[in-house]
Amino acid sequence: MTTSAEQRAVHLLVLTGAGISADSGVRTFRDHGGLWEGQRPEDVATPQAWRRDRRLVWRFYQQRRAQLGEVSPNPAHAALADLERQAKLAGGAFTLVTQNVDDLHERAGSQPIHMHGELAWLRCERCERRVRDLEHLSPDEFVPCPACGHDALRPDIVWFGEMPYHMDAIELALASCTHFVAIGTSGQVWPAAGFLAAARDLGARTFVQSLDAPENLDPRDEFVPGRAAQAVPKLSKSLLAGFGL
Ligand code: APR
Repeated sequence: MTTSAEQRAVHLLVLTGAGISADSGVRTFRDHGGLWEGQRPEDVATPQAWRRDRRLVWRFYQQRRAQLGEVSPNPAHAALADLERQAKLAGGAFTLVTQNVDDLHERAGSQPIHMHGELAWLRCERCERRVRDLEHLSPDEFVPCPACGHDALRPDIVWFGEMPYHMDAIELALASCTHFVAIGTSGQVWPAAGFLAAARDLGARTFVQSLDAPENLDPRDEFVPGRAAQAVPKLSKSLLAGFGL
């Protein structure tokens, strides 16, 4: 038996992937026959590709950076911002981790941990200066580093083979969360694919929302199929109701 003081305070940890932005018109990575906008991911999203063919990689990311101006948050992004407000008002904790590099969570009012970087930022490989830039969107012109003059900043994106950002903060959140919710992620890319099992093993209740059952789904997870824009607002309501809110 536990007293209420011994029970863990509610801490919701939400992990989002490309599926949540799909309903805003941003294409996912592994749908459409496994091609990433017609390119194999390994041709554009690796440090080797950047060294081999900087122009191809830059054109690809410049298209995605320009696309940010054409898309808007959908009801799933809005529901998560609202869920955070309500959970915190009730004294709970809330952490949002995203694998997405778009800024749709921010535009809906959240402050996610971007474990795979952000399209809105560029980074200098020579002096490590990071620059927020959504003005220089030409597919053909590189942006020089304003700090050291290096000829081409790279997208501040975590490519295959690179270490995701903010892993210490994410591991702390995994260790303390009481509820873990994965939304729109295929469960194929590590280390994010391991968060669901880690949270489950550490005692959290686990929920998975996606169009298709992801590879890492377990019978102990509560699976909520459907499109994020419809399913996430409903799931948020039922989570809040479960907390008595
Ligand atoms: N609503 C909910 N889920 C959806 C929707 C939708 N409208 N559309 C697609 N999905 C689901 C798909 O069923 C799939 O399981 O979203 C998932 C998208 O999977 P991926 O394209 O693999 O995206 P993600 O898991 O975010 O990829 C992880 O891989 O390429 C790298 O760094 C990149 O962050 C990315 C990482």
